[in-house]
Amino acid sequence: MTAPSPTDFGKRLDKTAEDTEAQLAQLLADAPLPDEIVRPKRLIEAMRYSSLGGGKRLRPFLVVESAAVFGVKYEAALLAGAALECIHCYSLIHDDLPAMDNSDLRRGRPTLHKAYDDATAILAGDALLTIAFDIVTRDEIHSEPTVRLLLTRALARAAGIGGMAGGQMLDLAGEGRFGDREPVDVARLQQMKTGALLRFGCIAGAILGQASRSEYQALDDFGRALGEAFQIADDLLDVESDAATLGKPAGADAELGKTTFVTQLGIEGAKQRVRDLLARGDAALSMFGARGEVLRAAARFVAERKN
Ligand code: IPE
Ligand code: IPE
Ligand code: MG
Ligand code: MG
Ligand code: MG
Repeated sequence: MTAPSPTDFGKRLDKTAEDTEAQLAQLLADAPLPDEIVRPKRLIEAMRYSSLGGGKRLRPFLVVESAAVFGVKYEAALLAGAALECIHCYSLIHDDLPAMDNSDLRRGRPTLHKAYDDATAILAGDALLTIAFDIVTRDEIHSEPTVRLLLTRALARAAGIGGMAGGQMLDLAGEGRFGDREPVDVARLQQMKTGALLRFGCIAGAILGQASRSEYQALDDFGRALGEAFQIADDLLDVESDAATLGKPAGADAELGKTTFVTQLGIEGAKQRVRDLLARGDAALSMFGARGEVLRAAARFVAERKN
């Protein structure tokens, strides 16, 4: 196998995005599933508003490409990727609420609470979080229940108290809104609020592919490096880009008084840290040789993205 060219990479990303969109549209249909009673129109429409028609779909891409390293069935990886994307979309809905980052623009459109209302946004987030766990336990994910169980537990830990939700708490505390501003451990905060879900995308393939310990560890290391690089790039874009390019407000972090690597290290220092993380990610993937090429390209994409 030859290293994919950037066009190949772009095509692969577009294909996963397209297939994820179709998968999500199917999962978020109007008709209730067995054991569901009804899917209230306003709620399912709000869920679709925030999860269809936008986003880079990077997290599903990581699931699909980490799974491809182990020859996992594309359909199973796509379904696991859709579950992760549901959690990501929920995290964005809640992140944008007036009580959190108070943001009006997301993926180039009014945020959900602006287009609908706060209560609907809270519930759409709740329901997206919950449906993710419905999806990830389905038979089509893997024939062995133990594998599905491990994947489910990993997803819960990435999303919850010691992962994304916990990291969001540290992020808000770091603004000083619960009392005195305490020194912020930016690396830890970002590892949790953003890194945990991205890392899950990378280890999902290893879990589905029943990888060896050392293969799992390699993807774990890669996922941590990519996750940290991703949030630093996000913080750099917040300072250096504009809302039209980002599809979300620029300059929001300074306005909210967030502590980031950009505030701690400066723009050049933050960029250097991203370069160091890319090198760490590359090193982690070395054991996979050419099989790791797409993931290596994904890390570069994360660092160089414009939105
Ligand atoms: C934005 O994530 C939220 C952060 C974790 C910084 P993405 O930049 O992946 O957002 P979408 O999914 O492409 O809109
Ligand atoms: C969000 O981080 C992380 C989440 C868990 C959603 P940010 O607050 O920096 O994300 P954006 O900039 O609003 O997308
Ligand atoms: Mg935030
Ligand atoms: Mg935000
Ligand atoms: Mg941001």
